Amino acid sequence: MNCQAETGYAPTSLQHGFPACGEDGPAYVEPMTHVVKVCFCPSCYVRGAARILNVITGILGTGAGEISENGSYTLETVKRLGGCRSGPVIVVDDEYHFDVTIQKVREIFRRSEE
Ligand code: FES
Repeated sequence: MNCQAETGYAPTSLQHGFPACGEDGPAYVEPMTHVVKVCFCPSCYVRGAARILNVITGILGTGAGEISENGSYTLETVKRLGGCRSGPVIVVDDEYHFDVTIQKVREIFRRSEE
């Protein structure tokens, strides 16, 4: 079974190169969805990460640890994205965004829909 092919989603552990067990043996998978990570460590949290997560949740219609209804986005909370002095920090796919504001979030997701 290839869970990504069947569900359109690969769990985070698989997206980072861990093998997926299947009938044909281990397989490495690439993410099919956009992966959005919101840092929830103390520095980002006190700088508004919870508010940013709420806005993203509203835009995507999904909560942390879930996949958006259209299957296009996976939303996660993570720790230590390495920009503590410039939080809140989010990563959309491999692109880092620092000093994230509600306005920036709206721009990021508007661009990603184009
Ligand atoms: S606390 Fe978020 S990047 Fe360090």
